[in-house]
Amino acid sequence: MKGGVKLLAVCLCLAVATVVVAEDPYFHYVWNVTYGTASPLGVPQQVILINGQFPGPNINSTSNNNIIVNVFNNLDEPFLLTWNGIQHRKNSWQDGTAGTMCPIPPGKNFTYHFQPKDQIGSYFYYPTTAMHRAAGAFGGLRVNSRLLIPVPYADPEDDYTILINDWYTKSHTQLKKFLDSGRTIGRPDGILINGKAGKGDGSDQPLFTLKQGKTYRVRICNVGLKASLNFRIQNHKMKLVEMEGSHVLQNDYDSLDVHVGQCFGVLVTANQEPKDYYMVASTRFLKNALTTTGLLRYEGGKGPASSQLPAAPVGWAWSLNQFRSFRWNLTASAARPNPQGSYHYGKINITRTIKLVNTQGKIDGKLRYALSGVSHTDPETPLKLAEYFGVVDKVFKYDSISDNPTSDQIKNIKIEPNVLNITHRNFIEIVFENHERSVQSWHLDGYSFFAVAVEPGTWTPEKRKNYNLLDAVSRHTVQVYPKCWAAILLTFDNCGMWNIRSENSERRYLGQQLYASVLSPEKSLRDEYNMPESSLQCGLVKDKPKINPYAGA
Ligand SMILES: *[C@@H]1O[C@H](CO)[C@@H](O)[C@H](O)[C@H]1NC(C)=O
Ligand SMILES: *[C@@H]1O[C@H](CO)[C@@H](O)[C@H](O)[C@H]1NC(C)=O
Ligand SMILES: *[C@@H]1O[C@H](CO)[C@@H](O)[C@H](O)[C@H]1NC(C)=O
Ligand SMILES: *[C@@H]1O[C@H](CO)[C@@H](O)[C@H](O)[C@H]1NC(C)=O
Ligand SMILES: *[C@@H]1O[C@H](CO)[C@@H](O)[C@H](O)[C@H]1NC(C)=O
Ligand SMILES: *[C@@H]1O[C@H](CO)[C@@H](O)[C@H](O)[C@H]1NC(C)=O
Repeated sequence: MKGGVKLLAVCLCLAVATVVVAEDPYFHYVWNVTYGTASPLGVPQQVILINGQFPGPNINSTSNNNIIVNVFNNLDEPFLLTWNGIQHRKNSWQDGTAGTMCPIPPGKNFTYHFQPKDQIGSYFYYPTTAMHRAAGAFGGLRVNSRLLIPVPYADPEDDYTILINDWYTKSHTQLKKFLDSGRTIGRPDGILINGKAGKGDGSDQPLFTLKQGKTYRVRICNVGLKASLNFRIQNHKMKLVEMEGSHVLQNDYDSLDVHVGQCFGVLVTANQEPKDYYMVASTRFLKNALTTTGLLRYEGGKGPASSQLPAAPVGWAWSLNQFRSFRWNLTASAARPNPQGSYHYGKINITRTIKLVNTQGKIDGKLRYALSGVSHTDPETPLKLAEYFGVVDKVFKYDSISDNPTSDQIKNIKIEPNVLNITHRNFIEIVFENHERSVQSWHLDGYSFFAVAVEPGTWTPEKRKNYNLLDAVSRHTVQVYPKCWAAILLTFDNCGMWNIRSENSERRYLGQQLYASVLSPEKSLRDEYNMPESSLQCGLVKDKPKINPYAGA
């Protein structure tokens, strides 16, 4: 009998343990990263595969899942992946940028462990090392809502991921050589939809099939290097329901401008004559636009797609108007049951304004891109590890740019690590000022922000009158049109080292990025996790024993 009681007690313990774990289930992946050959534009070329796939596998998850990805780097170069838009609460250790992690050496592996904590939405991952992004290793990453939390639309029939991107037939090594020698990578050679360029001659296989009358959720991400792309589907409207993790007011669009790094979630209803239709992706703001198609097929449909492709919009004013039509749905629940609009961001006082001005220039005859006069370079010791092991003095200085740079500071470009010191929980306004003639796309890791305005001209404090302080969309990437500015607002409540970067790969590679260091003032493990046991070490801290930075604090 006694033994029976003991056994029961053990069972109860196990049951309790299981319940705790069951809250946040684990999903394990093993990824083998290798070179391979593909011919997306008809010419065989080297690509980067994940488990033999180009693009890489899509990750399907639900809010708060534990996602474990053991990445084996079988390339001949160091490699890292970033999970674009995943906020990694208290955990910049998993962010996959050169400022937060040592790259995975060739022939070695590293296991990412991250949780899309209180997040839903459409995201993607991509490599941050060298110009690897130009060769593949990107893929979709979706976070579904937990069952208990209402989603503001009916369950779709299926859920499709569409990755669109500009593409070069030159290898990532060749593109990197161009940049290292101080020149641009120039114009892309074509556009891909899920790794393929449509021939459009009736020989293409459908990428997706639809059942007549059913509604599908379609997630569209621009995973490319630099081109803004317009996406549209013959004869079909797209009902926009989500953008980078936020439910938005549901409007119908004939086409959507998707800037590099951005994702949209739309609903598409198969309500047309049953036959084939083209999805179209084409470049914006580029002379002699590049276009590609992908095929949609109605099950049991008869007839090929019409060769008449819907035209792309013209000019950036159209795009700006489309940006202005995006609104947060204040009454919809996000990843938590409370409505999105219960967070009144418009009522919080701004404690600091940081102006980031993008420029380009030549240093020793070589092209560099800068932010407020500093062109970032990655030290061999990741910035985050320099902070952790107490060797900042040997690696970088905080605040190499000023919040309100003078024109002299902007003009005289310096190459050095660019790190902002940001006080935990400050509510900050960041203004991206673009005096150049090209469109910019800015991304912030570790957070989502309110994109309260994008306007032509030069920003002044008076422009705050025109901010959307009610229902601007909370997102992670914002575009800035030529000779325009964009303003974003956010609370820096996530401790860590966070990358602010141009999603334009050549600009990022040549210095248009920086890091926001948000330290825990209480030095508390409640604010930030300790460095994981499995973290790789390199540079000055290669052989240092791991410590608890907060011990005794
Ligand atoms: C990864 O793929 C390469 C090439 O196909 C193969 O040689 C290697 O054994 C694979 N590694 C793992 C861990 O599966
Ligand atoms: C994957 O997606 C399907 C819907 O397409 C969903 O029912 C399922 O729960 C998802 N898996 C996870 C882990 O979220
Ligand atoms: C590398 O893979 C092995 C085998 O799966 C695993 O045990 C180990 O923890 C991994 N190493 C890292 C640093 O993730
Ligand atoms: C906003 O969300 C609510 C609550 O889920 C939903 O009923 C409503 O249809 C949505 N409104 C729009 C305009 O999308
Ligand atoms: C915000 O600033 C205004 C004006 O300086 C001040 O009156 C108000 O109390 C502040 N609000 C909060 C919540 O700090
Ligand atoms: C960062 O800024 C805070 C507040 O402005 C200051 O207390 C702290 O010393 C700074 N930290 C560093 C490392 O410069």
